[in-house]
Amino acid sequence: MTGALDVDALVDEARGAIEAADSTEEIRHVAATVSGKKSALAEASRALGSMDPEARKELGRELHEARTTVEELLESRRSEIRFAELSAEMAASRLDLTEYVPGTVAGPGSRGHLHLVSQTRDALEDVFVGMGFDVAEGPEIETDWYNFGALNIPPAHPARGMWDTFYLHLGEPESTLLRTHTSPVQIHLMEQAVLDGTLPIHSVMPGRCYRRDTPDARHLAVFHQIEGLVVDRGITFADLAGTIETFTTAYFGPDIHSRLRPAYFPFTEPSAEFEVTCAICHGGGCRTCSQTGWIELGGCGMVDPAVFASVGIDADDWTGFAFGFGIDRCAQMRHQIADMRALIENDIRFLRQF
Ligand code: PHE
Repeated sequence: MTGALDVDALVDEARGAIEAADSTEEIRHVAATVSGKKSALAEASRALGSMDPEARKELGRELHEARTTVEELLESRRSEIRFAELSAEMAASRLDLTEYVPGTVAGPGSRGHLHLVSQTRDALEDVFVGMGFDVAEGPEIETDWYNFGALNIPPAHPARGMWDTFYLHLGEPESTLLRTHTSPVQIHLMEQAVLDGTLPIHSVMPGRCYRRDTPDARHLAVFHQIEGLVVDRGITFADLAGTIETFTTAYFGPDIHSRLRPAYFPFTEPSAEFEVTCAICHGGGCRTCSQTGWIELGGCGMVDPAVFASVGIDADDWTGFAFGFGIDRCAQMRHQIADMRALIENDIRFLRQF
């Protein structure tokens, strides 16, 4: 203690006020009171000038220490408060991702699910994987060669009329287009297998396809196919027929069967269309199947040697079969959807049913 001024008491008083401060606002106010221009310490410092040198020196040192202490106390309390406020702010704005808000998208009662076409694709993949196939994919934008040429459909071939094509670029050096079927993925797989020396192939290839069709109850301009390709030694048409029958009963149920009818595809020889028992009338005949009891699902056949030639596979050594059918058509059949356009209209009342 020096003279009448109790510096320690001032510091204690300041410490009490600083510790009691609980917010940024309060600590600012306390700082002005205990160390600002009008504080007792500041006033004492100003009074030093009128003191005799000896006393001034002693009190000056004490005041200097006191102010340093007060500044340190202020700073440490300030950072405590800042930390507490920030923590509180973060706790308040934290998102509870598990919170259930009834009637909103976030609630489990109204959580979305995969689109029926995706579900159908998954189910078809499961069936084929169970039969020993693996699953591959290819690009939706193709060159003329992959979509047509390599599949034994040269430029002037009349069979090009079977696929109404969306071209992205026509002409030189080569046309590009939106693939009209998943068959070009066969070419990619065979090319890769030849490069890597990994024949045989047992693969299915699901994916989106495009055709310049006017949508109707059984067609969409953007639709989905699943392609199948087996290239191995000694593969026969019986393997193809057996694979299709096994798939049909596994996917549609034991009372639905398949049959093959002669058809033409440039990339298979012989070729067939495959039909399955109409799931609506179970073969009895109805309007959907035009009283035949059968519904056409896709095409198939033995891989044409010309296709093997375009990818460099020796047709004397290897044989194979391929098939391709509509995923949307499968969904339509299995769930008895009268109009395929319902799949893309995004009417939630329709989609929710599946
Ligand atoms: N790619 C043919 C189509 O879309 C279907 C098919 C695939 C036919 C494989 C035979 C073999 O019409």
